[in-house]
Amino acid sequence: MSLSQQSFAYVGELVHRETAMVYALGKEYLVEARLLPLAVAAGQPDLDSYVSAVREDVTEQGKVVDALMINETSWFRDNKPFRALATGILPEIFARPEGPRRLNVWSAACSSGQEPYSIAMVLDQHLPGDWSADVWATDVSPTMVERVQAGRYTQVEVNRGLPATSLVDYFTREGSEWAVAQRLKEMVRPSRLNLAGQLPAMPRFDIVFLRNVLIYFDDETKQRVLDGVRDVISPNGYLVLGSSETSLDLGERWARETCGRIMLHRPAPRPRVHVPRPGLAGLTDHDLTAMGA
Ligand SMILES: C[S@@+](CC[C@H](N)C(=O)[O-])C[C@H]1O[C@@H](n2cnc3c(N)ncnc32)[C@H](O)[C@@H]1O
Repeated sequence: MSLSQQSFAYVGELVHRETAMVYALGKEYLVEARLLPLAVAAGQPDLDSYVSAVREDVTEQGKVVDALMINETSWFRDNKPFRALATGILPEIFARPEGPRRLNVWSAACSSGQEPYSIAMVLDQHLPGDWSADVWATDVSPTMVERVQAGRYTQVEVNRGLPATSLVDYFTREGSEWAVAQRLKEMVRPSRLNLAGQLPAMPRFDIVFLRNVLIYFDDETKQRVLDGVRDVISPNGYLVLGSSETSLDLGERWARETCGRIMLHRPAPRPRVHVPRPGLAGLTDHDLTAMGA
């Protein structure tokens, strides 16, 4: 079953409007594969008929958007950011002489939860006894947020990057699935959040993981999302991007810093505003006359 150009264009616009994700031409095969189960479930004879029905049905539009998210993730994905967290970022924060002994971390675009729970495992191992931490875990997809809340993973998912020792320490077998430990769930706070929209009231974050999501946005949206993150990150906070995103030009509001073998970004100090003293150009005719000029 294939999708007409008009249907593909409509679906692309819908996804862009709701999430800012760009589905470029050439991705028709992916859209068709993802929409087919929805069309079958809705009892539609083909994809174009399904898309016609979706145009009139807000609930079905939500399902389409959800189905078209790219939720690829794994435990300790790319490893290096988590090593940098344990050996560079956290020791620097814990060594600060002042400030609250509480850490706010944000996994923005957390997919099914492997990223925020990996962060929570690192924190569980390194957080000093008198510190506490919250790991905000947000995603635009309601299905992904439910998965983080459930904290249950299949054997196949667990096999993707989770060390055997972490499986033993932080999971229990429940039927055919693995359930994440309660003490990690207590640290992780899942909620739905669209990065491309207005950000809600949030705490000042010490660390933001914004990984493997900017790649799906156009340049203007990337900049808007980064500006939003800049507004909620602590002045001495850390931004961790995905491996293919660290080379992005983030503009002058962010400074780069190497940590171990990865590149981190930190809020750049705001440029000082230069207030010029008024010269002759700023004076009125009256002033000039009074000065005899
Ligand atoms: C490829 S996954 C990355 C997951 C995780 N950060 C990682 O690196 O493994 C991208 C995630 O971004 C989410 N996403 C896409 N557009 C979004 C938006 N506008 N706001 C928030 N999340 C979004 C998708 O639902 C998906 O779960």
